[in-house]
Amino acid sequence: MDKFVVQGGRRIAGSVAVSGAKNAALPIMAAVIASQGETVLENVPDLVDVRTLSALLRTLGVMVTPAADGQVRLQVVDPGACVADYQLVRQMRASICVLGPLLGRRGKACVSLPGGCNIGTRPIDLHLKGLAALGAEIEVRNGYVLASARRLRGAAIHLGGSRGSTVTGTCNVMSAAALAQGTTIITAAACEPEVVALADFLNAMGARIAGQGTPRLEIEGVECLQGTRCRIIPDRIEAATLLIAGAMTQGQVELQDVRPEHLTAVLELLAEIGCQIEIQADQKTAAVQTLKLSAGGPLHPLDVTALPYPGIPTDVQAQLMALACTIPGASVIRDQVFPDRFMHVAELGRMGARIRQQESTAVVSGECRLTGANVMASDLRASAALVLAALAAEGETTIRRIYHLDRGYAALEQKLNALGAHVTRLPDQWGTGHSPVPEWTSPGQQRKSA
Ligand code: UD1
Repeated sequence: MDKFVVQGGRRIAGSVAVSGAKNAALPIMAAVIASQGETVLENVPDLVDVRTLSALLRTLGVMVTPAADGQVRLQVVDPGACVADYQLVRQMRASICVLGPLLGRRGKACVSLPGGCNIGTRPIDLHLKGLAALGAEIEVRNGYVLASARRLRGAAIHLGGSRGSTVTGTCNVMSAAALAQGTTIITAAACEPEVVALADFLNAMGARIAGQGTPRLEIEGVECLQGTRCRIIPDRIEAATLLIAGAMTQGQVELQDVRPEHLTAVLELLAEIGCQIEIQADQKTAAVQTLKLSAGGPLHPLDVTALPYPGIPTDVQAQLMALACTIPGASVIRDQVFPDRFMHVAELGRMGARIRQQESTAVVSGECRLTGANVMASDLRASAALVLAALAAEGETTIRRIYHLDRGYAALEQKLNALGAHVTRLPDQWGTGHSPVPEWTSPGQQRKSA
């Protein structure tokens, strides 16, 4: 297990390329189960979650061959297997993405229930409702979802839940419906760019899906899907995290390989609070080349609510909270997607943050001074928030349990160090870490030295 040791107080400035999106790569890799022939994926991020899914896919008869430069070749070599075992599924919730492709192609799926996690209860009732509407018989027994169907039939399916739609649920139902007999209409479909990327990928394999990016998907079932070639879209959450690092340190960050149209809400927010945002397009191709953020002057407090796309992503909520800790005044942050996703609040508090949280709302008082401390990562995006807070903090911060971070950020410390940060990855031995006791100074002395 590794930890990060971060020397805070350095300005983040420079240019860096964004990796492929974890949340696009995972459902796309899982959808290969529904195809025949070879698929070549490019720009696949090197992440623990990608390796976990690769291991799961191998147990499901998919040959997964990673090559250099983020290329991964996948091909079904044994279409007989249909059991996604608890040992692998428990490591990563997104393993549930194999359910739809298994059912659609093999007519049978036995997938361990992923269980809850640190950001909330995370049910899969909408996934099961959608697959049942396609004609699958579904039973939950001994911690597994057992689903079967001779041939799925197109249906009208509403995927809206009390918290909006479901991203991986839409992916599952769409992948299964791609091979169903007849037409499926999904309403209240998730509109996230990663869902669009999966729909485009399935279409490249021969599916007939229309309406991706809107809440209404129309899917004409086809007999089979063929392997294809696909480049994974850039990770909008990693991009947002790096931009926020620039904003928090009065820095200047230039991102390459980025899709600013996937970040509209985040960019508008950052501009509103006082950052300068510049999007540079290639004059000849009109393709976007770079996205630049500069933060020179004082920033204004935030008032944000994490919502389904195209709103502010819940996956950026924790990082925005770290940013709010550095802005004088009161910021308000709500999460309507995962209302319990506030594990980072207590750890940010250890660094001096003043945050009051009640239910799904946190009020951050930015009149504080972040100082280095020993902190513990609790989930993927909470880890990112702690890294950001550590960059802006005075002194040294040690962040333990960064395996959470490695699940979803490819070489984050290398990217941040290339931008001027000082982040060191070290092996962590539990029990030997000490929490330096601060030298005693009176609050008055502290204020003078601040
Ligand atoms: C995906 C992302 C995750 C992101 C989340 C919300 C992947 C691999 N993960 O997770 O990073 O934070 O979208 O943008 O893409 N819900 C139900 N019933 C269901 C399914 C979900 O009530 O059957 C609820 C959830 O508890 C949550 C909300 O709907 O409150 C959204 O969850 P969902 O979109 O399903 O998240 P994931 O797909 O698991």
